[in-house]
Amino acid sequence: MVRVTVPATSANMGSGYDSIGIALELYNVIDLAENDHIDISDKNGQYVPQDESNLIYQCAKRVYDECGKPLSGLTIVEDCAIPQTRGLGSSSACTVAGIMGANMLLGEPLDRNAVIDLAATIEGHPDNSTPAILGGFCVALLENGHVHHVRVPVHGAIDFVVFIPDFQLSTEKARALPKTIDHHDAVYNLARAALLAGSLTTGKLENLDAATGDCLHQPYRFGLIENGEDIVREAKKLGALGAFISGAGPSIVAIVYKGDRDYITRAQELCEKLYPHWKAVQLRCDEVGATVKRL
Ligand code: HSE
Repeated sequence: MVRVTVPATSANMGSGYDSIGIALELYNVIDLAENDHIDISDKNGQYVPQDESNLIYQCAKRVYDECGKPLSGLTIVEDCAIPQTRGLGSSSACTVAGIMGANMLLGEPLDRNAVIDLAATIEGHPDNSTPAILGGFCVALLENGHVHHVRVPVHGAIDFVVFIPDFQLSTEKARALPKTIDHHDAVYNLARAALLAGSLTTGKLENLDAATGDCLHQPYRFGLIENGEDIVREAKKLGALGAFISGAGPSIVAIVYKGDRDYITRAQELCEKLYPHWKAVQLRCDEVGATVKRL
């Protein structure tokens, strides 16, 4: 039996559409063992697909197939804290768990870069799968099956508050974006994405509001997220350094000063008073990434 622990991720961070993501301290913990049949269960009694359609199983099987090893079945026990379809990388976490679990069961034939490439190829979002594996703040792009990536240290003065609604938004629906963009809009985002990476690293935190600005995806997605734009505005009014849609949404992430210990209380009061379908949770940046161990 092996246990894989994978963090949640918040992709895009406003300006870094499909290219920037950060790992957060909220985890899916998945146990896997070889078996002669498929036996999939959830520790918390949540519904999970119990046959070959299970994403963790499919990703594990893909590793066995790529390594030319037969697989007759797996025992998979899921303990998932990352909420599904909320823009917090739950499917990336399951993809990474399947790949890293199978890789460990096979004696680690894939090195770390091969795991990163396979996860992004299967999942399609290197901005989620790469920080899920490496932890921290990552810039990543997938080209011809290979992920070019860099993990950049995040300045120690910041924390994250995540506003999570009680409704879901499918990534597929949220990716119905314009097919072409204006040259001006491309420049708007690329300048901000570059500024974001530099500012998070150096601690030039006064840049973060401008650096998380975006005109490529958020303006189109806010219409799909009831109160999403209000939460971004209110999160900033409460003192956030920047706020944006997490991944494809619907969750919203606020970057806050670590020293602002009351921010989470103000955010929770905001939700209770004005946005009862939302809750606020404080999360640190995960610096470790996915881990796997034999039990
Ligand atoms: N970058 C992707 C998107 C992340 O915004 O659609 C999906 O989790």
